[in-house]
Amino acid sequence: MKVTVSPGHNINGTLLLPLFEGSESVPTSLEAGLHTALKSQINRILSEGDFKGKAKSTMSIIGSEGGKAMLVGLGKEEDLDAHAYRKAGASVVANRKKAHGTDFTARFSGASIESMGAFAEGMLLRDYTYDHYKQKDEDDDEEKELTVRITCDEGQEKELSSLIFTHAGVTSGVHLSRDLGNCPPNDMYPEAFADQAWEWAKQYDNVDVTIINYDQAVKAGMGGLVAVGMGSARKPCMVIFEMNAGVKGRGPMLVGKGITFDTGGISLKPGANMDEMKYDMGGSATVFGTMEALASTGYAGKVTAITCMAENMPSSNAQRPGDVIKTLSGKTIEILNTDAEGRLVLSDGLWKAGEFDPEYIIDFATLTGACVVALGHEATGLWSNDDDFRTRIHEAGNAVDELAWPMPLLPAFEKEMTNSKIADTRNLGAGRWGGANTAAAFLKQFVPNRGYEKDGEQIPWAHMDIAGTYWGAKTNSMVGNGATGIHVRTMYHLITNG
Ligand code: BES
Ligand code: ZN
Ligand code: ZN
Repeated sequence: MKVTVSPGHNINGTLLLPLFEGSESVPTSLEAGLHTALKSQINRILSEGDFKGKAKSTMSIIGSEGGKAMLVGLGKEEDLDAHAYRKAGASVVANRKKAHGTDFTARFSGASIESMGAFAEGMLLRDYTYDHYKQKDEDDDEEKELTVRITCDEGQEKELSSLIFTHAGVTSGVHLSRDLGNCPPNDMYPEAFADQAWEWAKQYDNVDVTIINYDQAVKAGMGGLVAVGMGSARKPCMVIFEMNAGVKGRGPMLVGKGITFDTGGISLKPGANMDEMKYDMGGSATVFGTMEALASTGYAGKVTAITCMAENMPSSNAQRPGDVIKTLSGKTIEILNTDAEGRLVLSDGLWKAGEFDPEYIIDFATLTGACVVALGHEATGLWSNDDDFRTRIHEAGNAVDELAWPMPLLPAFEKEMTNSKIADTRNLGAGRWGGANTAAAFLKQFVPNRGYEKDGEQIPWAHMDIAGTYWGAKTNSMVGNGATGIHVRTMYHLITNG
């Protein structure tokens, strides 16, 4: 989608007219340049209540004497904020089939620069289809690129353009995450992800990607990553992204679970809907997408990321329930269920993160079905060893309308996970209750202390369980279907706004 910004009243293509609930006529400030007959037509529709301006609603109109318009509902005037404008922008694209043509001009009455930018952001975000595996019909209007001109007042052009440039860059990160998540698992395997990261980094002078391959992982003692991935012909690897590594001081560290397909391993999952386990690399996609968002918008700070890539397969080389493995941290884990594999690969990723002496660590993982039971597809589960840090992440999520809900890290859950008779810890709780919390407590054991000091302070860390929010989120209006690309925007906001 091409977005341009300019002041002026001329309308190219279809006029987009955002209206709040109960608008009875076209706002006078928008009358200039509007075809008189079309204006009366719209006014009649509004005064007769045929278009109510409800959030997410749209109505397409062809002027009897020329001109085309799409009325776009903003919802209640008292609730009007950037979120409402973002949703309205998204609803235009969601209804593009009903719009006549692919060129739009958006006009606003009394909207702030932030709100106009959010409208464009919603259009950009929603302008996504995953059709790489479908044959193309070039004549189809839906295949054509949309163009939209956002009209503003004189003097607003520069600020609005730069805001939209940022939204476009961040959207490219969200869409990258969605592409990675939607890619079928026969084409998205650990090495394919690593190769894509390697190729991607070439376009940015300030980003380096390092791949720790299977042999190197074995040699380094990454027992968690190796145990999960060794059952597959597609061998596991770790991918390290370093952005602006030369900048002095500490930077954020993101860690992602990258299970490119989760069959459950020897503890095999039931067959129904197993195809959805291609999204089990959603954490690694969030991390990669965030790096793209930051790099494409020219972020100059230091950021590091680690993705733990493996395919969880049953085979004669696969790990078994009953095995005891040794992780990078030196801690041993008794494997009680090979389907609790995300926490194993993350144990090595989190421990490795300490090498970079980060300001904080955030991990993203489609970790537990229990988190989906707790929060549905509406909110990500959020745990942290630092209350203030957890609040900051929660607020960053709220600022961009990506909900992350605070969950408890309790000593009782940690105790449950260390109760193994033959190893330091175990990968399964005592029962299924509180499964998202016991998983978080398990991870906490692998968050290093600053400088790996034995009695030092643990690095501030947060865990985000995106099992319910990375896919299947039908109420997420920025997404049609498939991978959602959630939390690229949250992370961009957190990292760039402090
Ligand atoms: N990848 C799954 C979690 C998952 C479930 C993600 C549903 C998305 C939707 C994870 O590896 C898993 O299988 N977890 C088990 C853990 C259990 C064996 C302790 C689960 O949630 O059942
Ligand atoms: Zn699993
Ligand atoms: Zn999994």
